[in-house]
Amino acid sequence: MGLYIRQLLAGRDFAKDDYFASQMANFVYLVGDEEERVCMAVDPAWDIPGIIECADREGMRLTGALVTHYHPDHVGGNIFGHNIAGLADFLATRPAKVHVNEVESEGIKQVTGLSDSDLEKHRGGDEILIGKITVKLIHTPGHTPGSQCFLAASALVSGDTLFIGGCGRVDLPGGNPNDMYYSLTQILSKLPEETLLFPGHNYASKPVSTIGDEKKDNHYLKIRNLDDWKRLMGAA
Ligand SMILES: [Fe+2]
Repeated sequence: MGLYIRQLLAGRDFAKDDYFASQMANFVYLVGDEEERVCMAVDPAWDIPGIIECADREGMRLTGALVTHYHPDHVGGNIFGHNIAGLADFLATRPAKVHVNEVESEGIKQVTGLSDSDLEKHRGGDEILIGKITVKLIHTPGHTPGSQCFLAASALVSGDTLFIGGCGRVDLPGGNPNDMYYSLTQILSKLPEETLLFPGHNYASKPVSTIGDEKKDNHYLKIRNLDDWKRLMGAA
């Protein structure tokens, strides 16, 4: 298929001497076209030169950024008093567009200081091309209102919507347990079982899973109705 995907772990592959980054355990992804040697960075944050170096080392040209959601550990900004590098630093180095869900754009501007002209606002179902690779943007609200996942060939980059053995928090501002229930059980669970799952954080004992394995092992994908879900979330 020619899909190029690299999983980079904060504190290991970039931001190597940043203790906070390694504690947060964010994954950044490079997704693109193996033949044409172009890619975009998913959620570039913490150490922009380090991420760009990873692409440069493999001879990949970075042509833009894809954003799963607006939390500062994914896009840069201030969190717990720490200032995290992110999209603003990325664009200062590599003039490019940042692909966001339209619902998330205000939050992203607030957290990063970017302006409308920096953003390419999308609806769920939109597709973008990186070289000859098609990336489908899947709107999966719940963790935040404009959370989105990226599907390229049989690889899903899921941000903080679906983790290996878990799912993103719904108790932060903008979080919505009901939306998360539908995003997990009606959208992501319907993807083919062999779809590779690349989550937004390294929270599990393995870095990559499949939708099929998560449907077997991930409790959050096995809830059968909204009432049970609300009980699990403590919202009933
Ligand atoms: Fe998050």
